[in-house]
Amino acid sequence: MSGSGSNLQSIIDNTNSGYIDAGVAVVISNVADAYGLERARLHDIPAKVVDFLSFPTREDYDSHIVGILNSHEVDLVILAGYMKVVTKVFIDAFRNRIINIHPALLPSFPGLHVQQKAIDNGAKFSGCTVHFVDEGVDTGPIIAQAVVPVLDDDTHDTLAARILIQEHKIFPMAVRLYAQGRLKIQGRRVVITPPVSVADEVLINPPLNT
Ligand code: GRF
Repeated sequence: MSGSGSNLQSIIDNTNSGYIDAGVAVVISNVADAYGLERARLHDIPAKVVDFLSFPTREDYDSHIVGILNSHEVDLVILAGYMKVVTKVFIDAFRNRIINIHPALLPSFPGLHVQQKAIDNGAKFSGCTVHFVDEGVDTGPIIAQAVVPVLDDDTHDTLAARILIQEHKIFPMAVRLYAQGRLKIQGRRVVITPPVSVADEVLINPPLNT
């Protein structure tokens, strides 16, 4: 976690309410003044800063983080606005037990500055994706997505804010499904058990009667 921590807050709130039947064991940030650390402390959750620059390699940095996570008996690692690519050391230690939120509809627009990329590329819809983390950048099996329209007068900030509202819904939902043991990875696909019925609804932008 390295940003303002609003996704972290949504996870904490949903564990406190009982929607997620699990607790946040520890919060780790690579940024010493990340507001998420304060959010953790306010909820009596251990908060740690790990300075990337204190380690000779990215693998050493990740090994240290894995050690902290194991010492807190962490089952699922939640990357909530964590802006670093995790190495194989991390992935191997928590294979299929790391999830990330990404503010675009993967596999479109992986990487950084993706809200602006959606606007610049003229996309009519964007959204957010929760996915398991694998060795690639934003490439792992997709758990859940939410779609929002891209409006003609959108700026990065207005689109990012519209997407963030949905992040705060689908990220806790994905964590809840994981905690319930309902997520099964089958190749590139994530299957939910027992199956859920999804409304066969279509979104069209601009509307057909335009
Ligand atoms: C979110 O849009 C997340 O998807 C992206 O960075 C933003 C972090 O927001 N990676 P926050 O720190 O959770 O408020």
